[in-house]
Amino acid sequence: MSDNSSHKIGRREFLGAAAAGVMILKPELVWGTAANSAVRLGLLGCGGRGTAVSVSFIDNAGARVVALADLFPDKLAAARKKIDEVQAAKGYAALDSAQLFVGPKAYESLLASKEVDAVYIATPPCYHVEHLEAAVAAKKHIYLEKPVAIDVPGAKRIIKVGEKVNGRFSLVVGFQVRCATPYVELVRRIHAGALGQIVTGLAHYYCPQLQMPDWPAGASPAEQRLRHWLFYRDLSGDIIVEQNVHVIDVCNWMLQAHPLKAVGTGGRVGRTDEGDCYSHFNAVFTYPNDVHISFGSTQFGKAAWDAGLRMYGPRGGSESHYDHRVFITGEEPWDAGLGPAQQVSQGAATAGQFKGALDDADAMKEKAFIGSITSGDYLNEAATGAETALSAMLGRAAAYTGREVTWDELLRSKEVLDLKIDLNKLV
Ligand SMILES: NC(=O)c1ccc[n+]([C@@H]2O[C@H](COP(=O)([O-])OP(=O)(O)OC[C@H]3O[C@@H](n4cnc5c(N)ncnc54)[C@H](O)[C@@H]3O)[C@@H](O)[C@H]2O)c1
Repeated sequence: MSDNSSHKIGRREFLGAAAAGVMILKPELVWGTAANSAVRLGLLGCGGRGTAVSVSFIDNAGARVVALADLFPDKLAAARKKIDEVQAAKGYAALDSAQLFVGPKAYESLLASKEVDAVYIATPPCYHVEHLEAAVAAKKHIYLEKPVAIDVPGAKRIIKVGEKVNGRFSLVVGFQVRCATPYVELVRRIHAGALGQIVTGLAHYYCPQLQMPDWPAGASPAEQRLRHWLFYRDLSGDIIVEQNVHVIDVCNWMLQAHPLKAVGTGGRVGRTDEGDCYSHFNAVFTYPNDVHISFGSTQFGKAAWDAGLRMYGPRGGSESHYDHRVFITGEEPWDAGLGPAQQVSQGAATAGQFKGALDDADAMKEKAFIGSITSGDYLNEAATGAETALSAMLGRAAAYTGREVTWDELLRSKEVLDLKIDLNKLV
């Protein structure tokens, strides 16, 4: 693929031009023309989610994981063991130790590797902007975990760097619910008018207290914070931006818009873990056409997981639960036929692997990403990823300030969350 091309030239377009006798690109530069080889993936951030999705890439999308990078050697070693086991079972070679990178600059080494076609970024949210900018500069295909950013200036940087991708490679964002078969069909029906014009709805993400692995003996306070990033606002963005962002993304998808304003509240009562994240958020988002969405979330206590949405219009209503039924009532009833709720294990849910309506979400997301690379029909989800992160930040700003915050006011925010960790002094 020509690097200075400002025009998207997919594989089909290339083949069409070549068939017409117009050689516009060298064939070996087009994906898979030589040997239809597997896409070679590098994992940046070898934790729970990074390892689980890498395994899914191997099992469900025919990719090979060829390189790993992490700040900490113990995290990389655990992921290496798992990925070697999974790839050995398929007869693939073990990871080459020359493709294993540890430390604050590990991401640069991984991105410089000629062995890597695509990078999966599963580092904590506070590093997503920096790691995405580096990956775009390295011209790798990119799967970036959500949230793309945790503050407004960060989200604007994501939009800007997304524009540089310019159809030359794929950039997707980890909102796998958009790929889950029952949700895809539900949203298709909503967009086709099964509910009529949506008037109001509810979105919720109720989650019990989460656990993070212990830090090794002798870890400094900064290392302890980083290993437990989930509990700190400056590292995670708080629960509404880090976790609840999934259902806010589905709202934006269903309503084909972002919220225009929000009121909200929340607090930390009930949380017994470290850090400063809220235990719960409650907000009302106003979307275009005066659509109101009530949003609620928790991350404390011992209650069961429950995430999902309801939407109501004059013709009907929809319900979509992560672990349960997905259906429409009213003039055009429909049911995805998922049956009763399935048991969700805490560990699996923390890594984003719910059972039920999301059974095939990760597999379909990984297939879509790899398929976009091999077909040349590249995807670019930077702008929608940033819009969803900003929507969650709107609810956060309303809850933190206790007053109505508009989208335009939010976009004027210059606040940069400072994690106050110098990685060079950490390891
Ligand atoms: N899409 C989903 O459903 C879903 C589910 C869970 C987590 N996530 C997202 O995935 C990301 C990772 O979450 P997780 O639960 O795997 O966290 P984790 O703590 O288990 O893993 C993060 C890894 O990144 C490493 N790391 C930290 N800073 C680094 C740096 N500067 N350079 C290189 N490596 C670094 C850590 O050592 C760790 O191994 C987060 O953005 C989270 O929001 C998404």
